[in-house]
Formats: sequence, structure tokens, C-alpha cells
Amino acid sequence: MNGNMIIKNAAELVTCSGFAAKKGPQMAELNIINDGTVMIKDGIIEAVGKSREIDQQLKTAGTDQSDFEMVDARGKAVLPGFVDSHTHLVFGGYRAEEFSWRLRGDSYMQIMQRGGGIISTVEATRQASSEELLQSGIKRLNSMLSFGVTTVEGKSGYGLNCETEIKQLDVMARLDQVHYVDVVPTFLGAHAVPQDFKGKQDAFIDFLISDVLPRVTEQQLAEFCDIFCEKDVFSISQSRRLLSRAKDLGLKLKMHADEIIQLGGAELAAELGAVSADHLLQASDQGIKDMAAAGVVATLLPATAFSLKEPYAAARKMIDANCAVALATDFNPGSCFTESIPLVFALATLYMNMSTEEAITALTINGAAALDRADQIGSIDTGKKGDVVILEFPSYTYIPYHLAVSTVEKVIKQGNLVYDKEKGGIIHC
Ligand code: NIG
Ligand code: FE
Repeated sequence: MNGNMIIKNAAELVTCSGFAAKKGPQMAELNIINDGTVMIKDGIIEAVGKSREIDQQLKTAGTDQSDFEMVDARGKAVLPGFVDSHTHLVFGGYRAEEFSWRLRGDSYMQIMQRGGGIISTVEATRQASSEELLQSGIKRLNSMLSFGVTTVEGKSGYGLNCETEIKQLDVMARLDQVHYVDVVPTFLGAHAVPQDFKGKQDAFIDFLISDVLPRVTEQQLAEFCDIFCEKDVFSISQSRRLLSRAKDLGLKLKMHADEIIQLGGAELAAELGAVSADHLLQASDQGIKDMAAAGVVATLLPATAFSLKEPYAAARKMIDANCAVALATDFNPGSCFTESIPLVFALATLYMNMSTEEAITALTINGAAALDRADQIGSIDTGKKGDVVILEFPSYTYIPYHLAVSTVEKVIKQGNLVYDKEKGGIIHC
């Protein structure tokens, strides 16, 4: 595994080329090279183009091709690795019973208000050892990798005290080291109000600001700070207070915004210069305008809306208003227990009026932009990480067409083959 690979003769090399979020009509541009080749050296993409041209370049440069693993992608489509920019992947316990309660008619917020929901995962996560969280995290990352995910964001928020928030973030740092998939950590200490602060949201925000946030930033355990800004959880002014402090301490911002009630979360994300605002099922027209103007990536999570039987976010309206839209799974033990990228593609295209091209942009370069990494990942461009997926089919159009089933045959992480369906799955070095 030396990070040197040449993937040649791809029927479609879907580059998604770009180094920043794609807004509005740009989202439909995939920059496809028919019969394309990509050359990765030391884990970084060094050349991209027509197979004939790259072959010529290599010959002229006298490159010794025996230093490279050669992959023939004849008859296959090749894309950038998917970026799942919103998940809650480190947690203890499960909540299968809640799914049954919701089938019976209970709502997500009703379950939360009677002490279930996030708070029950908090109990289980406080009790879990780091080792248990690490092992379950590895299994979940394996599953994500099989769907073609090469970078994932993960949130804390199942600790709600200093010790367990830090434990979750530490586990994410270890997962990033031990697993092929890159893990981007987000501090979500303001995910719910813990029992000991019941009815005292402001005091809890004070506690996060005085006790937890400084430790997270001193130990450099998170890149982002997020908050569940929602009626009966954290208000707009509480969100503004926590996020402003986090920004002062050098964290980038995300928000769970306007998910169930229209509170003005999208507007606040724009005001604070957040990198992304997520969920947005109830975002107002003004909020959409503000996000477009401020360059906030609107991160939509259709599998959550599907799982909660809520209306989908207005993706079409957002794209038409010139927003940059990203898609992610929101994988978590409550509202959306799925790491399925194919399900997200199915819902986005069939129920949110997104074209296949827009959905691919939303899961690649715009997912990267939602993590402020559009200069490093999310497209097949020279200088970026060699993170690539090879489909079993000749065209990207098979992704939503093969409904909710993965079309990914191989995954390449920084120039190394790490998943091969034909060889039984994950390749362990
Ligand atoms: O993004 N909405 C709040 N947080 C998560 C759900 C977390 C949970 O239910 O455990 C979400 O949907
Ligand atoms: Fe979430």
C-alpha cells in the first residue's frame, strides 16, 4: 500500500471538478471525461485526463508504471469518494423501541420530552467504555466505506457533560487514526438539555461555555461547533451565544436549524457565517436567501425526513435561489439509523426534485465544502487526495436508478484499494 495507483480507461470519469462549493446552476456540472484516466501518487492526484493523453504524458515523463497499482476501469464509472458531512456515529446503545413507538403515532419530540430520545442515548454513551465506542465506531465506518464514503463528519452530543463529550471526541480522533475513512470531529455539546439542567437551558449554555468548550478547543478535539436550535431545545439567542463564543475560540460553525419548527435558524447561520446549516425542513424564504448570500452550505438530510415521516426540505427552491446544497445521511441511533448513501440518492432524486447530477455534487464537492475541505477532497482534481469510487456500471446515472442498492464496486483511499466488492469487501492491510 504505497498510495500509487493509475485508474485507466474509465467509461466515465466523473470529476466533479472544483475547489469550492457549487451554487445553484453550477450544481448540475459534473465535468465528465469519457475514457478517462486518473493517476495518484503518494496518495495525491497527480494527473487527470483522457486516457490517451495521460498515457502519452507518462511516456514522455518516463514514469515507471511498475511503481503503480494499475486498475482497469473499462466499462465503469469513476467518481470522487462520497463525503457524508453530517453524522452522529459515536454512541452507546440503540433505540429500536422508539422506531416502533413512532410507527404507533408518537412523534420524535414527544418521545424526547418524556425523557427518551437523545437523553436515553446519553445514558448509554456515558456508560460505554472508550473501547466499546471505538469498536462499534469501526463497524459503522466499515459500513459507510462500503457505500463509497471516504470522509465522514461525526458529532459528539451524547455526553452532555465534560467527561463524556471529551470521550466521544477522543474516540473520533482514534477512529480517524485507525480507519481508512477520514473522520472530521464536531462538538455538539448543545444537543439536548441533560436531566440535571432540566428547564435551565441558559445555565447549561453557560456551563458549556465556561467548562466544556475551553477544554475541547485547548485539546484541539473538534473542528466545528454545532447546536440543536429547536423549539423546546435551544433558542436562537442561546444558539447565538454559544456559537459566537465557539467562533471566538477558533471553531467553525454548523447548526441543526429549522428542522421541526421555523425558528430562524437559517438566518442565524448566515448571520454568524456558519459553514453549513443542516436539516432546514422548515427554513423560511428569507433564510434561504440569507444562506445563498452568505455562502452557507444548506445540508439536507432526506433519510431523516423519511424516517420521521416529515416533509422534505425544499431542495429545488434552495438550488433555484442559488444556494449550495449538500446531502448527508444524519446517521444516528434515533431519528435516522441508516448509513445508506443509496437511500439518500433515491430520496433526493425522487422526492426532492434534485437531478442526479445535483445529488452527486451534493454528496461530493458540496459535502466537502460543508466540512470546509473543498480544497482537499470532493473532486477528482490534481492536488487533491486520491479518494475515488469505481462503480460496477458504466455511468453515474445508475446510482439512483439501482434503487437504494449500492452500485459501488471498489473504493480507493489516498491511492490504495481499501474496498473491493469482488474480493469480499474491506481490504485489511
Ligand atoms: O440530527 N435533531 C437532533 N439530532 C439528531 C438526532 C439525534 C438522535 O435522535 O439521537 C438529528 O436528527
Ligand atoms: Fe443530526
